[in-house]
Amino acid sequence: MKSEHDIEALRYGYAIGKTMADKILVLNGPVLNMLGVRQPKIYGRETLAQVEADCRKLARRLGVSLDFRQSNHEGELVDWILKARGKVSCLVINAAAYTHTSVAILDAILASEVPTIEVHISHILKREPFRQRSFVSEAAVGLISGFGTFGYQLAIEAAARMAARAS
Ligand code: DQA
Repeated sequence: MKSEHDIEALRYGYAIGKTMADKILVLNGPVLNMLGVRQPKIYGRETLAQVEADCRKLARRLGVSLDFRQSNHEGELVDWILKARGKVSCLVINAAAYTHTSVAILDAILASEVPTIEVHISHILKREPFRQRSFVSEAAVGLISGFGTFGYQLAIEAAARMAARAS
């Protein structure tokens, strides 16, 4: 017999056995595909593939499923955020340069109603004035910034705890 959760899963199109509460979407904005070679003094030597592998390992340990993506295109990020509505329990986003410019990404997060954790590898509040303004922060539950790529692990841990509390 199908549980109430299974019926809800069918209705909302997420996999049976995996509640929405299990799903974390990690989005990465422009130029983060160049991690490892891009300004290593600021962003470190780890590649995005290594960051993803570490996130996957942690997600497995925490029993949550993970969708990890990167795009250099604002519209693609907006589409992914909107598609997450009702399907994802938590969005972890490093919107990179779009953090400081994109009302579209802010609006998408607000429209998605997905609890959002903002991540930055560098400590944006200690950097140039134009990086100290974040549109994402207007919608985010919290901000993790300045811990290097380890910040992604902190965000996933926080996302998993938030999801567990909500379910
Ligand atoms: C960044 C900070 C942004 O200012 C910058 O444009 C990035 C990366 C970070 O992770 O520290 O691309 O989001």
